[in-house]
Amino acid sequence: MDAVQKITSLCKRRGFVFQSSEIYGGWEAAYDFGPLGAEMLRNIRNLWWKEFVHKQPNIVGLDSAIISHPRVWEASGHVESFADAMVEDIKNNKRYRADHIIGEYFEKKNGEEFNADGMSLEELDILIAENNILSPDGNKLSKARKFNSLVEVSIGTLEDAKATAYLRGETCQPIFYNYALVRDSMRMKIPFGIAQIGKAFRNEIKVGPFFFRTREFEQMEMELYVHPSDAENQMAKLKSWAIDWLVSLGIPEDKLRLRDQDFKERAHYNKIATDVEYRFPFGWKEFQGLHYRSDWDLSRHAEFSGTNLDYTDPVTGEKYVPHVVEYSIGLNRLMLVLLFDAYVEEEERVVLKLHPDIAPYRYAVFPLLKNKPELVDKARLIYNTLVTKGYNVAWDDRGNIGKRYYSQDEIGTPYCITVDFQTLEDETVTIRDRDTASQRRLRIDELG
Ligand code: GAP
Repeated sequence: MDAVQKITSLCKRRGFVFQSSEIYGGWEAAYDFGPLGAEMLRNIRNLWWKEFVHKQPNIVGLDSAIISHPRVWEASGHVESFADAMVEDIKNNKRYRADHIIGEYFEKKNGEEFNADGMSLEELDILIAENNILSPDGNKLSKARKFNSLVEVSIGTLEDAKATAYLRGETCQPIFYNYALVRDSMRMKIPFGIAQIGKAFRNEIKVGPFFFRTREFEQMEMELYVHPSDAENQMAKLKSWAIDWLVSLGIPEDKLRLRDQDFKERAHYNKIATDVEYRFPFGWKEFQGLHYRSDWDLSRHAEFSGTNLDYTDPVTGEKYVPHVVEYSIGLNRLMLVLLFDAYVEEEERVVLKLHPDIAPYRYAVFPLLKNKPELVDKARLIYNTLVTKGYNVAWDDRGNIGKRYYSQDEIGTPYCITVDFQTLEDETVTIRDRDTASQRRLRIDELG
């Protein structure tokens, strides 16, 4: 089994992630997060919100509608430009992203990364023809053409009055069209930020591996409104802040790198785009973007809506359209990074060495024997106390203690607490550390 198969299998077996609609044969590129996956996502969301909203006096939150006025996506440029180049296997009509299929071909041939993202349709066709690049099934490929990633929805109650709208392709557009409402209602002064966590949707041509690329995913985004002359400085600050936060979650710095996109790769709205990449077993992959979007979004929304979105500096009186520096990270993709990073195989056990604040459970409580009511009652009391203190706590009274430890190691529970006969005498328990497997005795009132 390769690393992706191992993580996929653990996620299913232990209730982290399931293929969506499995009993109907599954639904491509959609995943449901099971009980432990839901806990992990919630922990990451909470940590992110605490860091990027609660701890920042100049950043506030937003929770917007997923379906907005269709003009939003015309103004943002997505209707016209949010597209990938696609090629089709001419025999079985399977579709592929042209840059991926070319990249994979050259990587195999030369053993080096090859980035064809952003090449023109002509350039892609020439590379495919000159190198006789075939589909994974060995068939000829069609000419490259653009494929828009926005997901359309038909909305309304009367058939003939239905409007075509779009599921949001990025969570930040509502942050832009709400810019003036937030600024005025919260009396925000530049530089200030608006953050949002929520679902985004893209009609991706190629999906996977596992839930790395899906058609429905969650983003955590923060848009910082700045004076144009301050943009470079804010971008530099954001880069080190972004890395520091990832390192605080336990991701080693040597498995992270920043990569500047060249102008061909950049999305239509970006002047500067820096990817944050993680070294997965399947190569360096982007999981976060730091972007300098200039005044693209606010100017376009001002133009398309006819609303003045200028900012007037309260001290100098200068009037200008604020520029935007963006922090954007995929919640699900970050979860995948954290799972890959935490997965360790040791001689007798598999351990998820997740940061305690991210692990689904903080503690597991075990009565040594389940047929001794005095042990079970005492363990229940400790369990309830920890839950009351706000921790998510697992309970296990099956089988031998060693097996219970291994079972908790595999889902990343940092601490296991065993209630034994000594507990009844001296109010102490055994606490066992997940990473070192070492055990010590602790007084019950020292827990939590
Ligand atoms: N607002 C800017 C923006 O959306 P992006 O680079 O297209 O920028 C930001 O997306 C992040 O969203 C990515 O770094 C990735 O983590 C996540 N993301 C994008 N497309 C995704 C997909 N199809 N599946 C899972 N996550 C995705």
